[in-house]
Amino acid sequence: MKSWWKDSIVYQIYPRSFQDSNGDGIGDIPGIISRLDEIKDLGAQIIWLSPVYKSPDADNGYDISDYYSINPKFGTMADMDRLFKEAAKRDIKIIMDLVINHTSDEHEWFQKSRDPSSPYRDYYIWRPGKNKRRQGRAKLPNNWTGFFMDKAWEYDEKSGEYYLHLFDKKQPDLNYKNPKVIEEVKNILRFWLDKGAAGFRCDVINVLYKTSLENGKNSLAVRGIEHYKSQEGNHEILREIHSDVLARYDCFTVGETVMVDLKEAKLLCDENRRELDMLFYFDHLEIDRRIAQFIPKKFRADKLMEVITKWQIGLDWNALYLENHDQARIVSHFGAAEKDRSFGNKLPADSKPGKYWQQSAKVLALFELTLRGTPFIYQGQEIGMTNFDFKSLDELDDVVSHGLNKLLKKMCIPGFLRWKWIKTSSRDNARTPMQWDDSEYSGFSNAKPWLGVNGNYKYINYAAQKNAPDSILNFYKTLIALRKNSDCLIYGKFLPVYADTRLIIYQRKYENKTYTVALNFSSRTVKVPLKHVDLLTRPLVVSTLGRTECEDTLLPWEGVLVH
Ligand code: GLC
Ligand code: CA
Repeated sequence: MKSWWKDSIVYQIYPRSFQDSNGDGIGDIPGIISRLDEIKDLGAQIIWLSPVYKSPDADNGYDISDYYSINPKFGTMADMDRLFKEAAKRDIKIIMDLVINHTSDEHEWFQKSRDPSSPYRDYYIWRPGKNKRRQGRAKLPNNWTGFFMDKAWEYDEKSGEYYLHLFDKKQPDLNYKNPKVIEEVKNILRFWLDKGAAGFRCDVINVLYKTSLENGKNSLAVRGIEHYKSQEGNHEILREIHSDVLARYDCFTVGETVMVDLKEAKLLCDENRRELDMLFYFDHLEIDRRIAQFIPKKFRADKLMEVITKWQIGLDWNALYLENHDQARIVSHFGAAEKDRSFGNKLPADSKPGKYWQQSAKVLALFELTLRGTPFIYQGQEIGMTNFDFKSLDELDDVVSHGLNKLLKKMCIPGFLRWKWIKTSSRDNARTPMQWDDSEYSGFSNAKPWLGVNGNYKYINYAAQKNAPDSILNFYKTLIALRKNSDCLIYGKFLPVYADTRLIIYQRKYENKTYTVALNFSSRTVKVPLKHVDLLTRPLVVSTLGRTECEDTLLPWEGVLVH
């Protein structure tokens, strides 16, 4: 079925790093309003706004202390209302980030819940320590470990018990066995939908329901996950929220689903089950990393093709993304921002990007925008922003980077190796301020920003690309405009054609139309296998290098679209 959220491009904003309006070095809502024209100009029709709710910012807003008010750092509720209004004027809808697996420990519910006799006690998951009467400290209620490289329980003096937290200890998990919690959540959704939200990006949405609190199987990371990942109880909650709330509005949901496999994903976004409209999986971004995502492994285009094919064919509709606020910048990851293949390479802070920086960013754009699904573009991706050359752990803000460092230290991993892994995997790579122009602090702010500006902002910035016809920004615009007018590019069936370590070829088919896409993910010229040459020996609709014909070769980091 066709729908507006399938036809649209989504642009993700990480508010604290997008645009500062009042000179405190932190991006804010009035700042976003002042940049709506740029988003409109890109061709996006939906904004996904990372959390702007009240929060002590232990995890940059993913720890909410009040779902009904705005973090003063970002502005006021009046600013938020103005954002909805100004966006609507430009035909832009906004989806909110829904973080409901956990709240902040500073949320009123949690504060009350610390009293064992409070009616809020059951809003969270409290358990006594094990073997309490034995001498010494009681043991944790079970052996689970969380997603942030830490144990999953924290002791609370006031309660005399432990509470469960799958993320930071300042992010206690809500108890979804308590129907009152689900009612609270429905009210939050209604509140934002009534304000004008067009839907939600649902944070870690497949781990809400903890079926049991038994010990987990032995495993290096997230021990215990088999007791809460994509459980039947979780499916039921999503269906209940859908039928009681979402079904009454013209809105959509995209779920962030951790460690999800295709079988689970099919259930979660089966149209008839009415749970989620689409979801973010992680498989494709993990093809060149091992163990909890931080140890690099060689990139292979055929591996990427294998994963993408599995999901393109496996699900009816995909959420397409290469970047977000938790991931490395794609041009530094699969692309060639620095030297050649770059994951792990160094980009001197103020130097120009590598020879194939622009070309590889365009190949990645062509890739994302010619798959079947709704494309999500993360702020800065459209200008090819790169990872940051962080010099030391002090420059990093990300709780996960600090957690990882502690864990690796415990495992006796030497400092230089720890740093190498942390630096390339840190979520802060994506969180440095948006590079708007080449003035001090990159036009993001007139004060020192909360996180360092990437030293390459003089070369990589929005203003420089706006009027350069061959810029990455203009290439995104071209592709978005092309896609907007093509049922084949939006709704066409995906057909894999060919893949080797450098080159992939696939097609999109719709009624009597066919598009062929060929992408060279390397800095060498590649020959198209004889068998497929006829697919490409026609006039090109698009070449990332501006060529009009490619015959049987693709130049280094060239991608083509053929009708
Ligand atoms: C999601 C968010 C991430 C956050 C985590 C806990 O993965 O994208 O930024 O830290 O959930 O809420
Ligand atoms: Ca500000």
